Order: sequence, then structure tokens, then C-alpha cells
Amino acid sequence: MPTFQTVRGMRDLLPEEAETLNFVICKARETSQLYGYKEVVTPLVEPYELLSAKSGEEIRSRMFIFKDLGDRTVALRPEFTASIARLSTTALKSEPKPLRVFSVGSVYRYDEPQRGRYREFWQSNFELMGSNNPEADAEAILLTNSLLKATGLRDYTFKIGHIGVIRGVLSQENVDDKVQSAILQRMDKKEYDEAFKLIEQEKCRTALRGLLELKGGTPFETAEKIKKYVTGYDKAEAAADNLLEILQLATASGCPVKTVEPSFARGLEYYTGMIFEVNVPELDIALGGGGRYDRLIEVFGGESTPAVGVAHGLDRIALAMQMQKTALPTRREKTAVVIPVKPELKAEALKISQMLREAGVSVEFEVMGRKMGKALEDADKRKVDYAVIVGERELKESSVVVRDLAKHEQTTVKIAKLLEKIRV
Ligand code: HAM
Repeated sequence: MPTFQTVRGMRDLLPEEAETLNFVICKARETSQLYGYKEVVTPLVEPYELLSAKSGEEIRSRMFIFKDLGDRTVALRPEFTASIARLSTTALKSEPKPLRVFSVGSVYRYDEPQRGRYREFWQSNFELMGSNNPEADAEAILLTNSLLKATGLRDYTFKIGHIGVIRGVLSQENVDDKVQSAILQRMDKKEYDEAFKLIEQEKCRTALRGLLELKGGTPFETAEKIKKYVTGYDKAEAAADNLLEILQLATASGCPVKTVEPSFARGLEYYTGMIFEVNVPELDIALGGGGRYDRLIEVFGGESTPAVGVAHGLDRIALAMQMQKTALPTRREKTAVVIPVKPELKAEALKISQMLREAGVSVEFEVMGRKMGKALEDADKRKVDYAVIVGERELKESSVVVRDLAKHEQTTVKIAKLLEKIRV
């Protein structure tokens, strides 16, 4: 038999990596509770049609699609938003608004594997449905700020844009909706020349080129400039006002917004309003991103419902933590290994292990049947705090020997007092 490797783009997370990922998942879940988002669990496999409806060319072309044994065309979810929008038109349809929903899990995209870009990765996903007010948009940014702060990351910054600015200009110049999406898709990939080729009207090309050049300056300066620049394009002007208001709300609460970018577009097609991403200087890929999508729920047959949300790339957050050498909180609970001195004492030793575990102590049992010296040496190497040595003589007196592996000291302790001894 050959030795097997993981499929290209798929990874094994070894204990340390899994520990960091779990820490980030834990912080995401705490954030969901702090902001009042209720967790739901949705399927990993969804109808291809649902996932592709409004996700856009980029995501559609990267989905893992297959036929199940019932001949249904299904796909592994590339994100959560479509599943949550589906839920909001079915099981959660009559829930009062605003509806705040949280999910966490693995998602799948056939991206080109490289550092921070995988084909299986983890997202925490927050959706807020029912409000079109700027404070709802600001909430997606604020909760992302809270999550990143809680992981201990430093120097992360937000970039904000607004799909309504470009779409506003394009619609007023009668550019078809589909062509608009294609243009935004190109802009997301920074293929500006390709994007301009799709625009027939010279006036429109000039307007867009101008917007692209509005980069630089403080976020507020850029937002003001956008507003002035799109004067006369009513929808784009309203979008610029909206962007400014969201920017004010987010920065007033201390979110580090570094740039406002009028040319900023995101890969997903369903966005209709504010969009944002968050980055750290150590990586040139986003740790999270989101935005407003006011029309997706009606595409899925629901009532017209404004919505805004964000997803965080948990593997990338973990990677950024590693690059910034962010320390995980150290474990404070003591650990123990229980070693029977001879095989006949296994049952008694197991009983003692169970008693400790039931009281919440993490206990490893010596399952290798090694000699005491070897078992102790191994426990010491793995930084276990105590060895509980179960010997015949001590058992007769309802006692065991407890060895402090760091201090190399040992004492005989009554089993009834064992917990007290280990917990200090
Ligand atoms: P997204 O920007 O496609 O948005 O993905 C969110 C985050 O997932 C990215 O910022 C990145 O951190 C992470 N990510 C994306 N692709 C990869 C990859 N190949 N490997 C590792 N991490 C990756 C969404 O998914 C939207 N559903 C967000 C949203 C929710 N918008 C509204 N509601």
C-alpha cells in the first residue's frame, strides 16, 4: 500500500494548530453571545442552485460540486450566507426582526493553495437581518473588532467601501445589471483595464476612472471626496452619504478604519451596500470581510429583507496570531498521570483516575504497562504536573503516593485528600 497524503489543498491540523483554531472558535462564539447572535448549524452539503444563485462567478467556479446517489446536484458550502438566507425564508421566517444569526464551521473553495489560502478552511459567520440602518452595518465592523481584539491580535485595520457608489454611477449610465456584476468582479481582482473594456459609454468610463483615483488621504477625506465626485448621480450620492455615516459610527466606537476605497469590490455578487475587509500588516490577504446584501433574501423567495453580515477566516486569524507571536492563555488546571505499580492494581488505579476526572482533573492513565521510572520520565517530558502512584502498601492504608514532577518531591496522601493535594 502507498503511504497516503492529504488531498491537495486539504490540511491536517496538529495539536498545537488545532488548539489555536479552537481558541479562535471559542472567541468567535463568545463574540456572538456578547452581540446577541443565536447560533445555528446548517448542512455542509447544500443544493448547488442555492449556493450559486447570487454568489457570483468567482465563487461559482471554485465550488466542490457533485451528484449525490439520488442524482441531485449538490455542493460543499463555500460560505454560510446562502444557507442563512435560505433559513430566513423557511424555518426562521416568522422570527421577529432584527434577526441575528451566528454559525461556525468549515467551508470549501477550490482556491489555489498557498499560505493562508486553503481549500478547506474555517469561518465564523454573523448575519443581521431586518435593518437597513447604518448602525446595523457598523455592528458587523464592531463585532469583528471585538473578535480580533479578543484573540490578542494587534495592528489590524479595516478597509471600507460601498458597492452602491459604483453601481449607482453605472445604473444611471444605463449599464445592465449583469454587466455591472462582471465589472465589479474584475475590479475585485484589480483587473481595472478588463473592467473598463466592459463599459461602452465613454462618459461612464471617465467617471469610474475618476473614482479609482480618489485613493489616499484619511478615510473621512476620501469619503467626502467620493460624495463630491458623484454629485448628480443620485443613487451613488445616497450611497456616499451612507458610507460616511457608517464610517462615523464605526470610528466613534474605536474601530481602526485605515482606508475608504471607492474602487473596492468583493468577490461575492450579492452585495448591495457597504462592504469591508480587515487586514494585518503581516499578511496581504484579508482576515475577514462582509457587507450589506439587501436583495438576497427575496431572490430566495422571502419578503424583501435588508441584511448585513460578515465572515471571519479563522485559519487566517490563527496564522496572524502565530506571525505576531500572540500567546494563548496558559492552562491553569493541574494535570495528572495515574500509574499502578503492578498489573494487579490496574482496577484500583482506574477507579482513582475516574474519581479525579469526575472532579474535573485531566488524567492520563499509564496504558503502556511501563516500568515506573520510564512512565515518570515520559510524564515529566510531557509536562504533566503530578504522578499518582498506586502501590499495594499505600492502598492498604487508603493512600497513594503523589509526585510533583516539576519539584521532584513526593508524599503519601490519603485518597480522600487526593483532590485537595492536586488542586493546589
Ligand atoms: P469572503 O470574503 O468570501 O466572504 O470570506 C470571508 C473570509 O474567509 C475572508 O476574509 C478570508 O479570511 C476567509 N477566506 C476566504 N477564502 C479563503 C481560503 N481559500 N482560505 C482561507 N481563508 C479564506 C464571505 O464568505 C461572505 N459570506 C461574508 C459575508 C457574510 N457577507 C455577508 N455576510
